[in-house]
Amino acid sequence: MELVISIVFVIAALLTCAASPGDRLLVNMTVVRSAAAIGAYCLDGSLPAYHIHRGFGAGARNWLLQFEGGGWCNDITTCADRAQTRRGSTRLMNQLETFSGILSNNASCNPDFYNWNRVKLRYCDGGSFVGDAMFDNGTLVLYFRGQRIWQSIIEDLLPKGLRFAKKALLSGCSAGGMASYLHCNSFNNYLPNATAVKCLGDAGFFLDAPDINMYHTQRTFFQHLVTLQGIEKNLDENCTNSISDPKQCIFPQYLLKYITPPLFILNSAYDVYQFHHILAPPSADSHGLWNHCKLNPKACLPEQIQVLQAFRVEMLTALRSFLFNSSRGGVFINSCFAHCQSESQDTWFALDSPQMYNETIAESVGDWYFGRNVSKKVDCPYPCDDTCHNLIGAV
Ligand SMILES: *[C@@H]1O[C@H](CO)[C@@H](O)[C@H](O)[C@H]1NC(C)=O
Ligand SMILES: *[C@@H]1O[C@H](CO)[C@@H](O)[C@H](O)[C@H]1NC(C)=O
Ligand SMILES: *[C@@H]1O[C@H](CO)[C@@H](O)[C@H](O)[C@H]1NC(C)=O
Ligand SMILES: *[C@@H]1O[C@H](CO)[C@@H](O)[C@H](O)[C@H]1NC(C)=O
Ligand SMILES: *[C@@H]1O[C@H](CO)[C@@H](O)[C@H](O)[C@H]1NC(C)=O
Ligand SMILES: *[C@@H]1O[C@H](CO)[C@@H](O)[C@H](O)[C@H]1NC(C)=O
Ligand SMILES: *[C@@H]1O[C@H](CO)[C@@H](O)[C@H](O)[C@H]1NC(C)=O
Ligand SMILES: *[C@@H]1O[C@H](CO)[C@@H](O)[C@H](O)[C@H]1NC(C)=O
Repeated sequence: MELVISIVFVIAALLTCAASPGDRLLVNMTVVRSAAAIGAYCLDGSLPAYHIHRGFGAGARNWLLQFEGGGWCNDITTCADRAQTRRGSTRLMNQLETFSGILSNNASCNPDFYNWNRVKLRYCDGGSFVGDAMFDNGTLVLYFRGQRIWQSIIEDLLPKGLRFAKKALLSGCSAGGMASYLHCNSFNNYLPNATAVKCLGDAGFFLDAPDINMYHTQRTFFQHLVTLQGIEKNLDENCTNSISDPKQCIFPQYLLKYITPPLFILNSAYDVYQFHHILAPPSADSHGLWNHCKLNPKACLPEQIQVLQAFRVEMLTALRSFLFNSSRGGVFINSCFAHCQSESQDTWFALDSPQMYNETIAESVGDWYFGRNVSKKVDCPYPCDDTCHNLIGAV
């Protein structure tokens, strides 16, 4: 009996990733000097940057690249404001970045990727790393050069060992999750055929769904983004050739079937960002009738819960063909009010982190990446999941 208890205790201790703030892994910034040669600039004209922590042991030749997220700017005013913040300028960013969750170097916190080369690509273009345009009226200059930033970082990493990668995973959350959908094929093309290339989109499955007043708020937002930032020419050609409005190919749901490498879709069916900005944006709720519900799902009225359930169904419908027909794909659609679940240790892999069928997100992604098991999980509707801890407040 004692033996059993101590074994259980040891397992629990191994699974407990309770890194105290003191032993956080902080990684220094690398500025991409060669980026200027191809005009790869942040919104304000500063040089792009990434943070790299080297792999070791069995992971020394494996590479994880993660796009930082942080919304978008889709007009001159908001982009000019953004250029003066850490979201638009590497000059204003912290030099030392915390690596946790999928970026952790601790096997007890990140069982499958801890010993890989792990790179965080800083987000400073406001257009999910896919724009290519410029604004210059004599007094104000703004660079929309996300696509070139992506190119400059990859080209900087290739000679640092990326070109000899055995395994590679492109990930990212939110606007960065969308970037990993948008650049998955391109990532694959940069790497040798023999490299196992896969992609993970975390909270990046932004739906082309109407808001509560049946306006296409998000579609309009993205149309302005695509136009301002010159994104259309960088969208997948197979997609843009087969759809009436090519701009729509920025939405992962339309791009999905053209993504060649194996893909993992990690998203909450009630993604907090989408709930607050796509489904019930302030423009559709001028009286703030949704405010309580946004802050606390328990405060939602029954009819609001119904609207949220319909949104979940819309997401699952957009994923139907992927769920049924993608043999190499992975899915983790849970029912927690969350946004970004791979970067924070609490949601990625901890004793009380979200689970489905008794698996954490880290285990599900690992099962999929290494082909240990089929890894397609869709949660029952809210409020059935009792593993939703450490969440909300994301937006
Ligand atoms: C890894 O994390 C565990 C659990 O938080 C901790 O006990 C251990 O000291 C950490 N190891 C390293 C090398 O930081
Ligand atoms: C980070 O890198 C910069 C530039 O290489 C260097 O000046 C600085 O000392 C480094 N900081 C730390 C904490 O290593
Ligand atoms: C350039 O654009 C900015 C932002 O729209 C505006 O404030 C400024 O007056 C413009 N300058 C000129 C010369 O038009
Ligand atoms: C990679 O595969 C493509 C298509 O199968 C082929 O055309 C190309 O020559 C291959 N490249 C290398 C370096 O093997
Ligand atoms: C995309 O189009 C190219 C030719 O333009 C084709 O070779 C490729 O198979 C297509 N990919 C998908 C996923 O349809
Ligand atoms: C799966 O693929 C088959 C064959 O292409 C197709 O008939 C079927 O409709 C697809 N199922 C879904 C759910 O998209
Ligand atoms: C869930 O997983 C834990 C540890 O991985 C295991 O001890 C437990 O038996 C599992 N529970 C179920 C219901 O499978
Ligand atoms: C594989 O996944 C299934 C369904 O989630 C689960 O029942 C089974 O225990 C898993 N097998 C392994 C070896 O993890």
